[in-house]
Amino acid sequence: ATNRTFTMVKPDAVEAGNAGAILKMIEEAGFRIVALKKTLLTQERAGQFYAVHAERPFYASLCAYMSSGPIYAAILEKENAVADFRTLIGATNPAQAAEGTIRKLFATSLEANAVHGSDSDENAAIEGGFFFSLTEQF
Ligand code: CMP
Repeated sequence: ATNRTFTMVKPDAVEAGNAGAILKMIEEAGFRIVALKKTLLTQERAGQFYAVHAERPFYASLCAYMSSGPIYAAILEKENAVADFRTLIGATNPAQAAEGTIRKLFATSLEANAVHGSDSDENAAIEGGFFFSLTEQF
């Protein structure tokens, strides 16, 4: 079925000028952009977004990094969106990401890994709702 996922182009990729190339790869892979904005997370809001990781050792660093510069947040639509997007972006750690994936091409470290992708339909809806109201999703 056609469904949705949520992504962020992270501060390292925006700073490096790769946001356009990444969005182009996403569209060329067949994803329709339902909603898109450039925004800057505060450390507190980054912490809310990644609250599921609050007990992890990398949480404080992740929140600092994710608020270090602007990001692009987007809701994407496609058949099998969550799984196909995770294939497109590659493994969380770019050292383990497959050739041709967004993280292989653009990520610089495990933390600065260029993009986020939702891990389930349920989280895609929650994460999309974190950035976009229903009247911003077309
Ligand atoms: P993301 O897919 O957005 O989900 C959590 C983020 O935490 C991850 O990408 C990385 O940016 C970051 N991170 C930093 N260290 C780790 C780690 N050891 N394992 C998983 N994610 C990490």
